[in-house]
Amino acid sequence: GKGQYRHFMLKEIYEQPAVIGDTLRTFVNPQSRAIALPELPVDFATLPRLTISACGTAFYAGLVAKYWLESVARLPVEIDVASEFRYREAPLPEGGAALFISQSGETIDTLAALRYAKEQGQTILSIVNQPESVIARESDAVLPTLAGPEIGVASTKAFTTQLTVLACLTLAAARARGALDEKRAAALSAALTEVPAHAAEVLNHDEAIEAMAHGIAEARDVLYLGRGPMFPIALEGALKLKEISYIHAEGYAAGEMKHGPIALIDEGVPVIVCAPSGPLFDKSAANVQEVMARGGSVLLLTDAGGRRRIGKGPKWTIELPAVDPFVAPLLYAIPVQLLAYHTAVLKGTDVDQPRNLAKSVTVE
Ligand code: M6R
Repeated sequence: GKGQYRHFMLKEIYEQPAVIGDTLRTFVNPQSRAIALPELPVDFATLPRLTISACGTAFYAGLVAKYWLESVARLPVEIDVASEFRYREAPLPEGGAALFISQSGETIDTLAALRYAKEQGQTILSIVNQPESVIARESDAVLPTLAGPEIGVASTKAFTTQLTVLACLTLAAARARGALDEKRAAALSAALTEVPAHAAEVLNHDEAIEAMAHGIAEARDVLYLGRGPMFPIALEGALKLKEISYIHAEGYAAGEMKHGPIALIDEGVPVIVCAPSGPLFDKSAANVQEVMARGGSVLLLTDAGGRRRIGKGPKWTIELPAVDPFVAPLLYAIPVQLLAYHTAVLKGTDVDQPRNLAKSVTVE
């Protein structure tokens, strides 16, 4: 049941510190903090390319992983939504592997994409939350998310546990490819083991986010911006908001603003900017200034350092824990979930069963 919570979605958001921890413990040695994945039928040292495919929120998890695998593990990744990939007739490299991500393990497009990749001789890996599912059965190896049952149609804890598995996979691939020195590898796995505690801290902002949701609920359109691995978090934030509050929202790579979407900015368009401290911060800060100069109201998700550097200006700021940029996507996912949730509650929608949507999409 929902226990003390008004909706399954809220309960599932609050379960994240625990289920991220459970998922992490299956892949990280608690003493040495070293990543220990099960034996996989893929040699990451020589893998030419990894193809990733999934739908919806699971696709956004894969998009974060593309940034991670390419920059941290130096592994080329190609990624597409399964509904496109399955019909695209993409040539796949000899000796390649393909990874499918799915909470339910039953999504028809993801399954069809998997079967295509198998026909093309790829080794099939999957990340699923339902170990008995058809996607799990048809894979050569399965990396499970230990999110437990997810009831809310809007995916929350499945997403952050997918990211957890993908972060571990990245570190394992990086080690196999000799892409990281030992010190950096140790720092990244240490940062990962601290995510459950930091996620719990993020949840302390719930009331503040609920107050900000009043400003969002009035809007007709909302923009979400991010760079690098924060770009998929912007996409995910926009998806969450549209699916449960029915407010039109778009996620954009912040650097694309000048190429079109900045024309939308006025007093009525809230802009959610996901900008942790790190190498891309100054670029995102410039986008914040551009939005504010045009009268847009900014909701900034950042950390103490970012807040200091931006100064006064954003209408709202949520200060998240300062972490290694590698793990930031796991934490910044949570406030965008809460913001969508509280906005939907204010709008009076059916949060757990939004109109026109099904929990698993088993027909095209
Ligand atoms: O079960 P799956 O992970 O394969 O489902 C994929 C999408 O249908 C799913 O993530 C959908 O986008 C969610 N409703 C998003 O909140």
